[in-house]
Amino acid sequence: MGKEEPGPQGSEFTIGKENNSPTESRFTRMKKSDNSQSQLFATRLGVIAATVGSAVGLGNIWRFPYEAGVHGGGAFMIVYLVFIFLLGIPVLTAEFVLGRSTHRSVFGAFGFLKPGTRFKGIGLIGVVASLMILSFYSVVAGWTLEYFIRSFGDLFSKNGSDDFHRMFGEFTEGWRPILWTVVFLLINMLVIVRGVQKGVERASNIITPLLFVLILIFCVNSLTLSGAREGLEFLFRPDFSEISPSVVIGAMGQAFFSLSLGLGCMLTYASYFKDDTPLIRSATVTAGLDVMAAILSGILIFPAVFTYGFSPEAGPALVFEVLPAIFAQMPGGKIFAPLFFFMLFLASLSSTISMSEIMVSWLTRERGVSRRSACWLTIGIAMFFGVLCALSFSYMSGLKIAGTIEFNIFNIFDYTSSNILLPFGGMLISIFTGWQLDRNIVKKTMNEPKSWFNRFAPFVIFILKYVAPVMIFVIFVSNV
Ligand code: TRP
Repeated sequence: MGKEEPGPQGSEFTIGKENNSPTESRFTRMKKSDNSQSQLFATRLGVIAATVGSAVGLGNIWRFPYEAGVHGGGAFMIVYLVFIFLLGIPVLTAEFVLGRSTHRSVFGAFGFLKPGTRFKGIGLIGVVASLMILSFYSVVAGWTLEYFIRSFGDLFSKNGSDDFHRMFGEFTEGWRPILWTVVFLLINMLVIVRGVQKGVERASNIITPLLFVLILIFCVNSLTLSGAREGLEFLFRPDFSEISPSVVIGAMGQAFFSLSLGLGCMLTYASYFKDDTPLIRSATVTAGLDVMAAILSGILIFPAVFTYGFSPEAGPALVFEVLPAIFAQMPGGKIFAPLFFFMLFLASLSSTISMSEIMVSWLTRERGVSRRSACWLTIGIAMFFGVLCALSFSYMSGLKIAGTIEFNIFNIFDYTSSNILLPFGGMLISIFTGWQLDRNIVKKTMNEPKSWFNRFAPFVIFILKYVAPVMIFVIFVSNV
């Protein structure tokens, strides 16, 4: 890939020359380790487009509204916001520090900063869990393609949510989801195989702004509906008596999933940052836009749900059963429906390319595999397991291990990766950054020249050291 060029950055950002700790010399040496300009994002805007594109996905538009819906709306939202700002931004900053300062993959970064460290194991968690998420996520992304196509055809011959419930059931039990999973992964392949700048960055530059424009159009439309007031009250008026352990667990999982945290996905993207890319600032902007996308998705969905007399507690079916029923009744629904599912498809794509990069960057950077082979291998594995996930709604549904335990790969992948591996990885990343690395060096890495954001560096480190590990551990244990 690309021609070899001298180091991407000037020396303005060499860290801690005055100090000679072993970690320190590695921090300095890594400046020379990355010498391929095409392995870096070209612009600051590209950095934000890529990280926000990764963060904003099905997690915001599909998962957030249904999680908020079943967990009491406003109460869930408050707890979710607390997690984003208290844990999300610091852990995101930590991933940025590890990625940008090493220009390595999730496998290489830990050992590079601290040779021989056991924390290298995070790489394994990252690669395995990202493949699991990529597999089941592609199945849902495939559904959006089916609904997009159908919204030009027979989607509107149905009426009432029962019809849509049946339609969703019939669809997921057939063979078409398998086809769509494969098609979606091939589209994903087309993007990533082009490389960091021409593939990932360029696609993100187009998709991310478009996504926000589309969400905003939908929000404006929702706000004109008669149930707008009720919908907004559901989302924004917290009933604190609704806060229960399950709300807290759900909100933390949602915060991690939505910010693509815990698996080194953002670490991988940060390894494509230039050395002067601001870290705390980028983390804050990414988290802010991610939260905005989630809230806007709530504003998009709940007014419509209340206007047409549905329950917000439909769960995962909210987007695929309730929304089509709403579009069928809504003036202009014939235009909004395809636009909505197209938006969901784009949001999924900019997220799955970031999941694929975890493994691709490991294979290309540390294993010497060509980008093309690395991409095919990643997509091939995801296809295999993605098809199994798609089948778990049809031919493999009701499969039992030893005749008793239900074995549904889709659910197992979703649960294990989101609720166990993600928080576990996030905890290890916090501990590694907070305890294993030299505090002053981490602080210097976060700092940018004359920035207002520098004042948050000690706070971020404090969270990484004490708050994040303890909080994640407690919630994690109560979850398992
Ligand atoms: N954040 C994405 C979403 O909200 C999903 C995602 C992308 C993700 N990359 C990830 C989740 C890495 C966990 C880990 O849809």
